[in-house]
Amino acid sequence: MSQRKKLFIRTYGCQMNVYDSARMADVLAPLGYEACSAPDDADMVIVNTCHIREKASEKVFSELGRLREHKDAKATRGERMVLAVAGCVAQAEGAEIVSRAPYVDIVVGPQAYHRLPEMVARAARASGGKGQGVLDTEFPVEPKFDSLPLPSHAGPSAFLSIQEGCDKFCTFCVVPYTRGAEFSRPAADILREARHLVGGGAVEITVLGQNVNAYHGAAPEGGAGRAENWGLAQLLHALAGIDGVRRLRYTTSHPRDMDEDLIRAHGEIDSLMPFLHLPVQSGSDRILDAMNRQHTADDYRRIVDRLRAARPDIALSSDFIVGFPGESDADFAATLQLVRDVGFAQAFSFKYSARPGTPAAMLERQVPQPAMEERLAQLQALLGEQQLAFNRSKLGLTMDVLFDRDGRKPGQALGKTPYLQSVFVTGNLRGQIAPVRIAGAYGVSLAGEVLQETALAVAS
Ligand code: 5AD
Ligand code: SF4
Repeated sequence: MSQRKKLFIRTYGCQMNVYDSARMADVLAPLGYEACSAPDDADMVIVNTCHIREKASEKVFSELGRLREHKDAKATRGERMVLAVAGCVAQAEGAEIVSRAPYVDIVVGPQAYHRLPEMVARAARASGGKGQGVLDTEFPVEPKFDSLPLPSHAGPSAFLSIQEGCDKFCTFCVVPYTRGAEFSRPAADILREARHLVGGGAVEITVLGQNVNAYHGAAPEGGAGRAENWGLAQLLHALAGIDGVRRLRYTTSHPRDMDEDLIRAHGEIDSLMPFLHLPVQSGSDRILDAMNRQHTADDYRRIVDRLRAARPDIALSSDFIVGFPGESDADFAATLQLVRDVGFAQAFSFKYSARPGTPAAMLERQVPQPAMEERLAQLQALLGEQQLAFNRSKLGLTMDVLFDRDGRKPGQALGKTPYLQSVFVTGNLRGQIAPVRIAGAYGVSLAGEVLQETALAVAS
């Protein structure tokens, strides 16, 4: 048996990074590493980074500076801390990290972390504790999933990565450069992982990918249909057929890949939750074209209409960027109009941030900061109104809520409605799906009352 060691992982960014952090803990478990909740005394610290927006790498360098103090403090006690940088900043700026923060032991890209055990051993041999910058930021993706162990434990709600990378090359986005080309895992592997998650207690599975609805993984041998590849709709049907899968979700999607089968699946699969995160970025065709999104604002409206025809209560979420280079007042007005036309249950909106190496960073006519801030405030006010109205529309209704975590106050549980609204209740309901009457509706959450008789029935 390996000696026990403490592992601390700090995760930034998207759900893919949350999934990757859990998998890094899984690959390091055989070396004796166990998760701990603070970096101070850890034997290994991994900073899992995100590169998608604003000053990400500066934040990483200041975090590394703080961690260096813990590392030095340990060294004065004659102990060692392995310091690793993972994720998209590692991928994009690996060499820079090695030269600017030479005390970092390991720099590992998102497609190489299955090799962490080997890298930890190499770092130990090489450095005697000083850090030598072992660098592994290699593409492609395929071998990683083959070499990862099955996830060690699942909560009631689990992530499952099915697709990675992106070939869309939106002009503002670093993902195609940091995560690499699009790759889909074979369906049989995904189904095996899903069964394993359910065996470990998961009742909800969210399948993940940067471009999840571009999924086109190898069909299982002898599986339904003669096609060599499955699309996302086929995969969702198969996942829904696994005993114990009560809820399914997928994220993040691209409008261009919302094909007919997938739209229809929203009406056909009961366990597919009536919520979809479908980024549109802008409501102006001129800007959508400059972003290389390959769809128009009306294409998006039509997709929404078809989704609502298939599943009338579907709630929509989106991502927006304001201040893309060349965005005029009229372009921005078109975004506000799209928001009014569609009506979103929630959304994320960002100021455009030039990412080094992306085509949009080279464009003239960058929008000045004050204009961006003004537009962002206006957009967020409108989206906030829509979210509050959506939340209020559920007042007095009873909805099934999956309680996946404890609330902030003692005795509180936090869960999610089918529409991905956060609900808090008083009661110990973690891990259950229970009917809840909505008693309060706020900007970003709901207050619920557990219906006594039915909650008991669920628990028994
Ligand atoms: N600037 C601002 N927002 C960005 N996003 C991606 N790249 C940028 C950028 N350069 C946003 C998009 C995307 C979300 C994950 O992050 O809205 O959908
Ligand atoms: Fe980035 Fe998404 Fe565009 Fe791919 S589709 S380049 S991940 S914004």
